[in-house]
Amino acid sequence: MIDAHTHILPTVDDGASDKEEAIRILKNGIADGVKTFILTPHIRNDADWNKIDAIKQAFVTLKKECAERELGIELILGAEISITPDLPHKIDSNPLITINEKHVLVELPFLQLPIYTEHVLFKLLVKGVTPIIAHPERYMYLKGKSEIIRQWVENGVMLQINTGSLIGLYGMQAKRTAKKLLKEGLVHLIGSDVHSDKKKDYGFSRGVGIIKKIAGHEMTHKILVSYPWEVIRAKS
Ligand SMILES: [Fe+2]
Repeated sequence: MIDAHTHILPTVDDGASDKEEAIRILKNGIADGVKTFILTPHIRNDADWNKIDAIKQAFVTLKKECAERELGIELILGAEISITPDLPHKIDSNPLITINEKHVLVELPFLQLPIYTEHVLFKLLVKGVTPIIAHPERYMYLKGKSEIIRQWVENGVMLQINTGSLIGLYGMQAKRTAKKLLKEGLVHLIGSDVHSDKKKDYGFSRGVGIIKKIAGHEMTHKILVSYPWEVIRAKS
């Protein structure tokens, strides 16, 4: 299985604090059935954009470490980028921070939907970069706004929900919204959004179990196989 949203890359954001914690998180994921990890450190401000070289270096180092330990997994570099009006422009000068230069995981603010959201999503799509909205079920202002979300998806935007939302880690509202999005066929990818090794239970397989129960066979296959494959094998 493919975990599309993780904070495992050490020392570059609020995720893993060192190499050993990163390895422990990866092992928790492997035990829970994950074979491919998309590494998506936060990029939230100008200081984070200036860390991109450090992020790339940390990626090369972790990949080498995993190969030496023969973990048998695939690591793919991406980022979870907070939406800003100049995001499409910033990606031009940092194309390697997108997943295979074709997809970008976009975080929205938790309090309010920015007025420039549509414009930014549209500009990314026009560039041939597909925005993946990170955990839409966690933004309370999107509660009951299926029509906005459906419009995004019809325009080509992808949605990633957190397995933790399905198992209740973020409360009832996020759980309800995640299930509703699944039932409506609006989900493309799942991610753990893991930040540490504190919970031994990675939570991925339990989330997948819920998806299998409520999304139906065809949709489950798309979420677990087809869409992630489309993202990680995309070529410019
Ligand atoms: Fe995240």
